[in-house]
Amino acid sequence: MNDFQFYSPTEFIFGRNTEAQVGAAVRKHGGTRVLLHYGGQSAVRSGLLVRVKDSLAAAGIAYVELGGVKPNPRDTLVYEGISLCRREGVDFLLAVGGGSVIDSAKAIAIGVPYEGDFWDFYSGKSPAAALPVGTVLTIAAAGSEGSGDSVITKEDGGLKRGTGSDLLRPKFSILDPALTCTLPPYQTACGATDIMAHVFERYFTNTEEVEITDRLCEGVLLTMVRETPRVIADPENYDARANIMWAGTVAHTNIVGVGREQDWNSHGIEHELSALYDCAHGAGLAVIMPAWMEFVCTRRDPMRFAQAAVRVWGCQMDFAHPENTAMEGIACFRRFLHRIGMPVNFAELGAREEDIPVLVEKFGIGTGRTGGYYWLSAEDVTEIYRIAAHTPPVES
Ligand code: NZQ
Ligand code: ZN
Repeated sequence: MNDFQFYSPTEFIFGRNTEAQVGAAVRKHGGTRVLLHYGGQSAVRSGLLVRVKDSLAAAGIAYVELGGVKPNPRDTLVYEGISLCRREGVDFLLAVGGGSVIDSAKAIAIGVPYEGDFWDFYSGKSPAAALPVGTVLTIAAAGSEGSGDSVITKEDGGLKRGTGSDLLRPKFSILDPALTCTLPPYQTACGATDIMAHVFERYFTNTEEVEITDRLCEGVLLTMVRETPRVIADPENYDARANIMWAGTVAHTNIVGVGREQDWNSHGIEHELSALYDCAHGAGLAVIMPAWMEFVCTRRDPMRFAQAAVRVWGCQMDFAHPENTAMEGIACFRRFLHRIGMPVNFAELGAREEDIPVLVEKFGIGTGRTGGYYWLSAEDVTEIYRIAAHTPPVES
């Protein structure tokens, strides 16, 4: 195991009706004047937004509102949010929604105290200051409620880029699993896929002797394999929703990834799909991650893939040919994704093979290689997109 520092300062407030505590939580964490940031209509329709406002009012917290965050959140609204916060003297960002709303709030949070263009932080610069952020989560997926990451899309040119800093870890996150019961099955499945991908990105590592994090990863994956079909079949199943919600947070605070090298190439390769087609990040991952696995497992030691196949998918180990076990595990993953309603190839996602050169160019790898469990060249990335384009549909 590698040496590490792990900093996860977020206070997680978990359970039914915990959104009623949001006003008190903002106060506890020093907020007096809040930007209430949310997405499209879901938080309005469910009545959540009214409940949040009531709680803020009861705690004597003033607020201004900025709704309209789109999935794959855009820089344009971030600029608007930064101006609004400066004008109104906002000292706390409250995100009510999913990863997109939280990421947009985080971008505003680092943009407000910065004199330059906030996009600098999405082009390699590290933020030095940020307004505090709190969240009321409505979808188990991105893990942004516990992570120090934010991903924003630049409208002009369609570049989707991320930034990461412990400064961006929320001060608190309110996790009420009941809030996720209104999610359509497709969004639930996209979220579940993202959660599993966050674990797999960490699971495929070159670091040895990482039993504790291997087993934590497998625990999260097994939970998702069990609980996801349960909520797809019964969206009101609170207990299954609760397990998935906590799995989503655990998957991405990095507690399952400390002390080990990680990969993250599937995420980078996927981000170009959601930037170009504006598809859901989880759906893009359902197409890319198994394709990445298929490409890498025959080029790299297949034992790690075989281990996942045995421990997560229950495959029988073929000691003479571990690559067969590895491939069987990848097939199980694809069947699972299909079963929960996810696309497994370009056509099902709405992506086009002829766009592959554009996707690779935007990925920006040039003539170099990108690191991780297996280092990829531009040709490798092209081949992964091609595998994703040519994957046959899973037979029902
Ligand atoms: O906008 P509204 O009307 O709220 O609808 C949203 C949106 O259409 C809807 N939704 C959310 N909660 C709902 C609901 N509908 C009904 N009932 C509810 N309770 O779901 C749709 C998707 O929401 P979004 O916030 O986009 O989903 P998600 O949490 O998957 O976030 C995706 C974004 O996070 C980024 C992704 O790239 C993508 O941009 N990521 C952020 C990460 C991070 N910050 O750590 C890591 C991830 O790997 C990821 O890249
Ligand atoms: Zn993700």
